[in-house]
Amino acid sequence: MKTVKPVILAPSILTADFGHLAEQVAAAEQGGAGWIHLDVMDGTFVPNITFGPLLVQAVRRATLLPLDVHLMVEQPERYLGEFVSAGADSLTVHAEATRHLHRTLQQITALNCRAGVAINPATPVEAVREVLPLVDQVLVMTVNPGFGSQRFIETMTSKIRRMGRWMDELCPLADLEVDGGIHLHNIADVVAAGANVVVVGSAVYNPQATPAANLDALRSQLGKGTVS
Ligand code: DX5
Ligand code: ZN
Repeated sequence: MKTVKPVILAPSILTADFGHLAEQVAAAEQGGAGWIHLDVMDGTFVPNITFGPLLVQAVRRATLLPLDVHLMVEQPERYLGEFVSAGADSLTVHAEATRHLHRTLQQITALNCRAGVAINPATPVEAVREVLPLVDQVLVMTVNPGFGSQRFIETMTSKIRRMGRWMDELCPLADLEVDGGIHLHNIADVVAAGANVVVVGSAVYNPQATPAANLDALRSQLGKGTVS
């Protein structure tokens, strides 16, 4: 029988106020976030630059929540040890960014870290089939990576469903994470499609309300008892 995993909300700090980062992370934790998602961008794999291990280390000091580090970086294998030392609990690499994906995932596991693989909207689910038995989590990008506050790509909903079917067969214990453009109006749809970890950036960190109020509103879109 298929196990139903509780839904985890993972706020991305990308649109948080970096001048008050520790408070912003604490606010998400108090609001019931399950993980904190950190978007590392190198200006080459994606057209934007964010931060590296130093900031991960600062967030590590601000929360006890698992730190979910999304590496939008070319050849991420160069930096795995540094991010684990900085306090990452999971490292997700893009299938498009590393030539030896299988080896890179094994290296993450060997560092006692959860191993994740991500795919861009244009990458088919088949691209990661051979590595699914190696991963703890799979990240289906629902926008083209690089920026927060982008619009959800509607055709990704059926892709989430397809990925979920492959995962049931090849890595039934792994988490299926989705990232990009998820708000009140579509969170229930991505969860119904099979996602159990939902990255939420601008839906949590925005000027309209506090992170806790935003997380409450997102949770209220989901069935009771399914959210951690
Ligand atoms: C996009 C990042 C996402 C993004 C999410 O490259 O990987 O984590 O910041 O932000 P929203 O939820 O605003 O799309
Ligand atoms: Zn991300």
